[in-house]
Amino acid sequence: MLNHPLPRIDKDEKLRKLLLPYCRFKYGTIWIDEKEKHKIACVDVSKSEEVKKIFGKTKGKLSVQDPPYNFIAFTEKQNDEFIIWCKNWIALNQEISDKNSSFYFWLGADQSNHFEPFGGFVEMMKSTGLTSRSFITMRNQRGYGTQYNWMAIRQELLYYTFGKPKFNIKSEYTDIPKVLKGYYKEVGGDITDNMQRSKSQFIRAGNVWIDVQQVFYRMEENVNGCFAQKPLKAIKRIVEASSAKNELVTDFFSHSGTTLIASELLGRKCITFDYDPVYCEITLRRLENLRSTGKSGWQNSNPFYNEIKNDKKILNHLKKKYNITYN
Ligand SMILES: C[S@@+](CC[C@H](N)C(=O)[O-])C[C@H]1O[C@@H](n2cnc3c(N)ncnc32)[C@H](O)[C@@H]1O
Repeated sequence: MLNHPLPRIDKDEKLRKLLLPYCRFKYGTIWIDEKEKHKIACVDVSKSEEVKKIFGKTKGKLSVQDPPYNFIAFTEKQNDEFIIWCKNWIALNQEISDKNSSFYFWLGADQSNHFEPFGGFVEMMKSTGLTSRSFITMRNQRGYGTQYNWMAIRQELLYYTFGKPKFNIKSEYTDIPKVLKGYYKEVGGDITDNMQRSKSQFIRAGNVWIDVQQVFYRMEENVNGCFAQKPLKAIKRIVEASSAKNELVTDFFSHSGTTLIASELLGRKCITFDYDPVYCEITLRRLENLRSTGKSGWQNSNPFYNEIKNDKKILNHLKKKYNITYN
């Protein structure tokens, strides 16, 4: 297996700066895809006028939002600031969305630093006019182990709607076979169990997802350098359930570009943003890599490998700081 790791770019400003010359994006760049009509915009989504211009008259049917939750220090006040910041971009998100549309919000927490925005977020959402539909928990396989606490293995995903968007229930089945017969019921004079009555031999995902593997370096979809990559399987499930072919999917916080990749694979259009040119470049490279190789990521290589292997400054930095060498 290739082994060309790239450390977290967000935690290493020197590495980030060394990668910038290889990026086709700078703040304000909008990349438009001639083929599938996707867009990648290097724009801060707090700047609503800039965002609205990119949409023009087009409206999104589905939004998949995974905001950063570690961007500021962690005090009670900053919990409140986070909620106000969310309220603003969610209002904008509604403006650029169709009258029948779906919204998914991933929400993180950091209990050890008292950053637990969940309660405040749900309260704030009451004033948005969106309808609360589900509170999904995704179970991570790997947790952060501790001898003194419950292992942290959950990720929160909130589902809201506006108007009456379609929901494709078929896409909601997992690949976990049904094993329990469930309860018995009389149908046409016969006593039947759950298996006989059900339409599928697999269980539905419901609002607890236990079948999604957290991304790690052995998986094809892995994008080294990114710290917050969501599993493609989870995003594809959302996109399939809450949008149809050729409809527009939106993601304000692209990072590794998972929503764009899921949209490409499922025949949807995607407009995605990141205010950091490096993550916009990674998003675009991930799409290009998918189109040219059919692969959804770089496994244990990375998006900038071809440049880094010839760049003495980056190679020296990786060796000195992390003892990483590329052979
Ligand atoms: C949690 S990550 C998203 C991960 C993504 N779902 C994935 O699967 O890769 C959040 C991203 O939002 C970007 N970001 C933070 N604040 C932003 C803002 N105001 N406007 C646009 N992007 C922002 C960060 O640079 C980061 O890449």
